Amino acid sequence: MTYADAIDTPLRDGQIKIHDRSVAFPAMVAAGQVAAACLDMLGGEVREGVTTGRLDDLARQFVFDHGAIPACVFYRGYRHTICTSLNHTVCHGIPGERALKDGDIVNIDVTVIVNGWHGDTSRMYGVGDVPRKAERLMDITYEALMRGIAAVKPGATLGDIGHAIQSYAESERTSVVREFCGHGLGRVFHDAPNILHYGKAGQGAVLKPGMIFTIEPMLNLGSPSVKILNDGWTAVTKDKSLSAQYEHSVGVTETGVEIFTKSPAGLDQPHAIKA
Ligand code: MF3
Ligand code: CO
Ligand code: CO
Repeated sequence: MTYADAIDTPLRDGQIKIHDRSVAFPAMVAAGQVAAACLDMLGGEVREGVTTGRLDDLARQFVFDHGAIPACVFYRGYRHTICTSLNHTVCHGIPGERALKDGDIVNIDVTVIVNGWHGDTSRMYGVGDVPRKAERLMDITYEALMRGIAAVKPGATLGDIGHAIQSYAESERTSVVREFCGHGLGRVFHDAPNILHYGKAGQGAVLKPGMIFTIEPMLNLGSPSVKILNDGWTAVTKDKSLSAQYEHSVGVTETGVEIFTKSPAGLDQPHAIKA
């Protein structure tokens, strides 16, 4: 790393960075809006017969065309711009030859770097005629994300976020994946703190203005257990039940929360848009 970057390495003791909001928040909006616009664009391309590799090619081109860099390319040996997680894939599905089929549900997750700052967001998309139980899971997952975001304000705790998500998800008879979590981000992709999507109200670190992190709950219709396939990336449900995820990058403001990755076109829930 260069000396200039040294101040932005992940903090050793799990301390949570307090960003200068006048600098960091506009930069996070710039990055978040490219990531969100990329997902908007991909919504027009998701259809039966399209391969996940084609979606990845389109995403990479879009990112470069918008003056950004795909954060996942070369990240820990990953080689793609997006993750495409289909049906019982929980996260980190690798784009390739697989063509989308009628009835599939797919999470597309993109992280971009704009002027050194990261925008990280994902949404669910349905292909053609999606089973009612899959629609329901996607609805619940979006609502769980938004309830987690609604818990973010100065003085609230990380446990409040996890509790808001878990209590809602479980009340709807879905389960919360434990092995993956949200994360601090900014000039670092995966920074402190871990944002657990389960927890107890009032526990954990207290939120302060200037903190920046993702919230990205993964909910399953069956058991919460996951396993990693031999490719070293793809996480799937052990019981092959359907899984869904939504993700936003957010910052803590003086009074509440700012979402950096809101869709500029109002397409935050593509799974709910009927062709
Ligand atoms: N975007 C993912 C996240 O939400 C990370 C993907 S890492 C990759 O944190 F290498 F798989 F792309
Ligand atoms: Co993330
Ligand atoms: Co992501």
